[in-house]
Amino acid sequence: MKAAVLREINKPLEIENIQHGDPAPREVLVRTVAAGVCHSDLHFQNGSYPYPLPAVLGHESAGVVEAVGSDVTYVKPGDHVITCLSAFCGHCEHCLTGHMSLCQEPELQRAPEQPPRLANGDEAVWQFLNLSSFAEHMLVHEHAIAKIRPDMPMAQAALIGCGVTTGVGAVIHTAKVEPGSTVAVIGCGGVGLSAINGAAIAGAARIIAVDMVPSKLELARKFGATDVVNAGEGDPVQAVQEMTGGGVHYSFEAIGLKVTAEQAFKMLGRGGTATVIGMIPVGTNIELHGPEFLMERKMQGSNMGSNRFRVDMPRFVEFYLQGRLHLDDLISRKIKLEDVNDGLAALETGEVARSVIMFD
Ligand SMILES: NC(=O)c1ccc[n+]([C@@H]2O[C@H](COP(=O)([O-])OP(=O)(O)OC[C@H]3O[C@@H](n4cnc5c(N)ncnc54)[C@H](O)[C@@H]3O)[C@@H](O)[C@H]2O)c1
Ligand SMILES: [Zn+2]
Ligand SMILES: [Zn+2]
Repeated sequence: MKAAVLREINKPLEIENIQHGDPAPREVLVRTVAAGVCHSDLHFQNGSYPYPLPAVLGHESAGVVEAVGSDVTYVKPGDHVITCLSAFCGHCEHCLTGHMSLCQEPELQRAPEQPPRLANGDEAVWQFLNLSSFAEHMLVHEHAIAKIRPDMPMAQAALIGCGVTTGVGAVIHTAKVEPGSTVAVIGCGGVGLSAINGAAIAGAARIIAVDMVPSKLELARKFGATDVVNAGEGDPVQAVQEMTGGGVHYSFEAIGLKVTAEQAFKMLGRGGTATVIGMIPVGTNIELHGPEFLMERKMQGSNMGSNRFRVDMPRFVEFYLQGRLHLDDLISRKIKLEDVNDGLAALETGEVARSVIMFD
């Protein structure tokens, strides 16, 4: 099958013809139909998050089940699924207390003595984040997929695989935004726009979108932003503080920078909560002014929107089909697997919400 392989950091992905194994008892072989290009792929490509190489990148996808292992009962060939990197074991402390996105049990991958899921001839190729979506097929653990209704369009479904689950989930699960509250979202990419949409669904009274690209701020209004701030035209902290008369109840950082994480904390009102969604590079520390904790400001992280994805994803599909999640507007363009490097480069400029790879 064709796959986009990262062999060296900061080098383009290479389209190679590689092989996948047959499903083990708890594995599922999925034919990839659509895969979004998320900024997290770029963080691994440029080495700000190290990963063993060679690896097939991609982790935001939807497809059709082609074959299942002997113990799989959840899906059958022909079922439509969305993948999720938050594969869960179902028996660890995190899974059993409802925090499945924190599960890291090794049993979800193949053991070193087993043949690898992906290979190029004799060379093992690493599976990326339990998935490796930039490939015509994905061989995954059965706990890395959610079944969805077959009338859901696949490009939109793919976006639920990471960006939407992450952004909406950060708002409704991690921060638990209440109706009537004030929200600021810094960064209006696929994740930030989804957080804005999530805040609108949660009933936030005021949703302030912050970005530096004017077209992104326009797009943010479609997702439910009531106000916009161009961070390139002045201090966004001051702007948000002034607009809200002292700061927001909830802020979200959806870029992955030290400066914007610090801004998220500073734009809170008394008792407010900042949630960092962006992947801040390994080795980077952020600085907070100690006395501000006396205002009971809080700072927290969010992993994949604190999801319970087999419950969340079918709900998000319904929200889309009801017109409440604006997934059509998230798709900036559809591309082919061969154009994956253009998709990654587009994330550097901030001009696109999402490029979605369509497999034929
Ligand atoms: N926590 C998680 O589980 C999780 C999951 C998915 C993605 N992420 C991370 O979320 C972040 C966002 O992902 P994405 O795919 O939406 O990225 P993206 O590149 O599509 O969007 C980033 C946006 O931030 C804007 N921006 C850049 N610098 C800015 C600044 N200084 N001030 C204001 N706006 C600025 C850009 O114009 C762009 O619109 C990334 O770090 C990604 O790795 C985290
Ligand atoms: Zn992602
Ligand atoms: Zn677990």
